[in-house]
Amino acid sequence: MQRFLDVLKPGGEESRLAASLDPERLPRHIAIIMDGNGRWAQRRLLPRVTGHRAGVTAVREVTEACVALGVDALTLYAFSVENWKRPRAEVETLWRLLRQYLRQELDCLLKNNVRLGAIGRLDALPAIVRQTLNETIEATAKNDGLRLNLAINYGGRAEIVDAINQIIRESPGGEPVAISEEAITSRLYTAGLPDLDLLIRSSGEMRVSNFLLWQIAYAELHVTNTLWPDFRRIDLLRAIVEYQKRDRRFGGLNGMLDDAPAEPVLAEVAALPGR
Ligand code: FPP
Repeated sequence: MQRFLDVLKPGGEESRLAASLDPERLPRHIAIIMDGNGRWAQRRLLPRVTGHRAGVTAVREVTEACVALGVDALTLYAFSVENWKRPRAEVETLWRLLRQYLRQELDCLLKNNVRLGAIGRLDALPAIVRQTLNETIEATAKNDGLRLNLAINYGGRAEIVDAINQIIRESPGGEPVAISEEAITSRLYTAGLPDLDLLIRSSGEMRVSNFLLWQIAYAELHVTNTLWPDFRRIDLLRAIVEYQKRDRRFGGLNGMLDDAPAEPVLAEVAALPGR
């Protein structure tokens, strides 16, 4: 955190926001729906793919900011299972861009002690992209800083379906199995990552777009009107400042014990007349 403050211009809004953060309550896991690339390009009368290219700068800046802040995990929605429906040229550009990013950023990932991971139906990726992805994952596997997690050919429903199918496959002799929340959570692509604390969506739309459906159960949501290619460190700081103002109750009430027994409360209700 101090390292982060040191690089900011003193007196500016970024350093004011950063100084107001409580380092003890930073989100451990942030996920981002990087939306608005197409609109960014259209507003400049440029082809949509220019917006995706410009989005890579934002990816780099946000990753470096998370490293400096000491966030544990950052999950970025790079390509959804639905994105295949886009025009072929755009889909091809997205794959090319992803591969380029992986090759170009490796040094930067290593320098920042970032460990790369990927979630999604990765078997369906173009073979050449999968190969570069695997090589980059391998090359950064020993890093123990930020876990940068790219969601590629990812769908939240598909992830839950995959987890349940895995439970069924693991059942000895195909016996019927009891499914628990724990059983599903531990078979999601995100198993092993900290619980999701903050989901950010750029470019103003109030949708979750099939992203991390299970994991967002108790995450805080932050939507900004900034289009993804314009998203910068200051936007991340604003999101975290707002996150720290939220009262996270996880379905309970503040000041209530985590394991507060429901029984005495229910006994009170049971004693009410009018059953
Ligand atoms: C959504 O914007 C964005 C995507 C489908 C792709 C996101 C990809 C990048 C930011 C670049 C590559 C990523 C990495 C990790 C290197 P949109 O096209 O739906 O925007 P629109 O809603 O304005 O049309």
